[in-house]
Amino acid sequence: MTITAEPVPETKSNAMARLEAAFADDMAKVNALIIERMQSPVGMIPDLASHLVRAGGKRLRPLITLASADLAGYAGDAHYKLAATVEFIHSATLLHDDIVDGSPMRRGKPAANTVWGNAASVLVGDFLFARAFSLMVETGRLRVLDILAGASSIIAEGEVRQLAAIANLDMSEREYMQIIEAKTAELFASAARVSAVIADLPETQEVALDRYGRELGLAFQLVDDALDYAGNAKKLGKAVGDDFREGKVTMPVAKAIQAASKEEQVFWTEVFGKQERDKTDLQHAMALITRHNTLQITLDQAQVHVDNAKASLQIFAPTNTRKLLCDVCDFVLDRSF
Ligand code: IPE
Ligand code: IPE
Ligand code: MG
Ligand code: MG
Repeated sequence: MTITAEPVPETKSNAMARLEAAFADDMAKVNALIIERMQSPVGMIPDLASHLVRAGGKRLRPLITLASADLAGYAGDAHYKLAATVEFIHSATLLHDDIVDGSPMRRGKPAANTVWGNAASVLVGDFLFARAFSLMVETGRLRVLDILAGASSIIAEGEVRQLAAIANLDMSEREYMQIIEAKTAELFASAARVSAVIADLPETQEVALDRYGRELGLAFQLVDDALDYAGNAKKLGKAVGDDFREGKVTMPVAKAIQAASKEEQVFWTEVFGKQERDKTDLQHAMALITRHNTLQITLDQAQVHVDNAKASLQIFAPTNTRKLLCDVCDFVLDRSF
């Protein structure tokens, strides 16, 4: 995305709405499965899980699984279970992530940990992970298990690496990209790839779908990191400014540090050296981010990954589903600004 007056070919909501509409019946089955499989006689589990699940969310990852299965010409019904699996893994990571990040809001509601406490959120996150594994085992495909189990450990590694990198102003761009690939892009990649596996597509097409999800996931997180400085909390359903408050050196900050004058360097070092950062600190950081145009730089990088995602689908026949998967990349770039 570029911030210009150029006519935008299609608005983000149209692209996302068309993907949702095309797979509405399938997604209804996936949602029913999600509700069914988060039940437990231990009442706090469905209470807490449904607080998150019923709050909505874009369901982008399961939609990618469903659309990829269609693109792959898959005719069975294992993709419903896999789409639910992917959303369960995503939901579990969100429960854990909001504790780690101390985030007050998720999907427009108080984050589950602020209602039930950290302990309950950790444990229900574990429950959702376990249910995700049961669901994927039911598909009877070991390779699917391999891919999604691998993704789950890579996501955890990404989150731990990010934790270890808090307030590290020397973190390289390469390290940052590796972290977002692990914590976010790996699940997008797996969400697409597993559909190729159940459809028994040849290796090249399986790799192409992995690449599509991976590149889209990188773009998604880059945009998310820009939105953390410039987004609208109401539209996003989560607080903005969290990354700075937590001391996360994301792309907008990393680029501002790269371009910093001596005086600005002193600000960044001091502000990330503190235990806590307040509103005035955030305002100063925003001024530097604006001065060095690093939100646009971040979005330009996201655009490169979106272009890569679209290019990776070119080996598939030009069907309506391929177009939907391409167009949803533009939604990822334009969402909620
Ligand atoms: C949030 O993902 C976590 C990130 C990778 C930034 P989404 O923005 O897809 O969350 P929901 O599912 O729509 O709430
Ligand atoms: C999202 O991390 C990735 C995972 C949940 C694994 P973030 O911390 O960047 O995303 P938000 O801003 O909480 O959604
Ligand atoms: Mg977070
Ligand atoms: Mg986080």
